[in-house]
Amino acid sequence: MKLVAIVGSIREDSFNLKLAKHLQTRYAEKFELEILDLKPIPMYNQDIELDAPQEVLDFKAKVKAADAVLWITPEYNSTIPGVLGNAIDWMSRVDKVMTGKPSMIMGASMGAMGTVKAQMHLRDILFASGLNSPLLPMNEVYVGAAHTKFNDNGELTDQATVEFIDTVIANFQEWMKNYL
Ligand SMILES: Cc1cc2nc3c(=O)[nH]c(=O)nc-3n(C[C@H](O)[C@H](O)[C@H](O)COP(=O)(O)O)c2cc1C
Repeated sequence: MKLVAIVGSIREDSFNLKLAKHLQTRYAEKFELEILDLKPIPMYNQDIELDAPQEVLDFKAKVKAADAVLWITPEYNSTIPGVLGNAIDWMSRVDKVMTGKPSMIMGASMGAMGTVKAQMHLRDILFASGLNSPLLPMNEVYVGAAHTKFNDNGELTDQATVEFIDTVIANFQEWMKNYL
């Protein structure tokens, strides 16, 4: 199984990027996970959507080729960050690369609620007609107080979180059998 992770933070020391890297290494034998970089994606503009920049075409091609998308995002001002919304706008247009493609959401934040509001909004967005992505039901991963759960090497060290994510990934693999 080939998956892509779309991380809603472009900062170097991002907890969400660390979470994506944790998934990449811990489940390397279960699936291949490529972490996509949102930094090169320019602002969406409807005037150029039919002649989109190469960075956008490359990004969309990777999403299109993946069996599923893992959305791993912080919460900004009680919703999803602008960089993520921007990438979603590109994905929702022209060839609509998310149509029918399965999704799973995770998120890490320094707050106690661990991105609950951002994930609620992202869930709604995934059901918009330009995306129309089936979402893994029930398994919700909120990594709150993220600054206490990773060590200086960027490794996820909170055992309860590691074990909980093991369970979610097992559920995700089972659910993915409907789509492979
Ligand atoms: C513009 C901005 C808005 C934020 N809004 C929220 C918020 O609404 N809820 C929350 O839990 N944390 C919020 N935070 C704090 C983030 O949880 C924290 O910066 C986190 O480390 C971001 O994720 P990252 O480490 O992957 O970049 C905000 C941070 C920024 C920079």
